[in-house]
Amino acid sequence: MAGNRTFTMIKPDAVEDGHIGAILEQITASGFRIVAMKLTQMTQRDAETFYAIHKERPFFGELVEFMTRGPIVAAILEKENAVEDFRTLIGATNPEDAAEGTIRKKYAKNVGENAVHGSDSDENAEIEGAFHFSGREMF
Ligand code: RTP
Ligand code: MG
Repeated sequence: MAGNRTFTMIKPDAVEDGHIGAILEQITASGFRIVAMKLTQMTQRDAETFYAIHKERPFFGELVEFMTRGPIVAAILEKENAVEDFRTLIGATNPEDAAEGTIRKKYAKNVGENAVHGSDSDENAEIEGAFHFSGREMF
């Protein structure tokens, strides 16, 4: 059976632009239940750890700078087939390639400042959720 939880962040660009409410509305209207949620800001070390898989990529420095420049909303979401369905809801990494109506199509500025994060596997959803939340913050 496909996993039922994913992890998301509303990234600093979308928080700055006042899109928290609209994005959460679209997420819950699409059938995701909020298991855990907080407004928080990643430190440089947090971002380097969270995105360690990208550390050799040319955009890594830019990514860390972007993800630490202001608060984010971190959340764990529950739904059948959560990881895949959430990736569909947010759309492609580059908003130019994202399908009409997806969160990135509506709110992302470019491939770097792309409004939201979504876990890419059940295993990473578990790791990323545990990175931001303790067991007693999950409901
Ligand atoms: P995410 O992990 O944030 O959900 O995004 P993703 O899976 O769609 O994309 P990924 O390849 O994991 O890249 C992580 C984040 O790095 C930034 N990025 N910048 N300048 C660039 O070419 C570039 N490519 C990726 C984006 O913020 C992307 O979401
Ligand atoms: Mg990714």
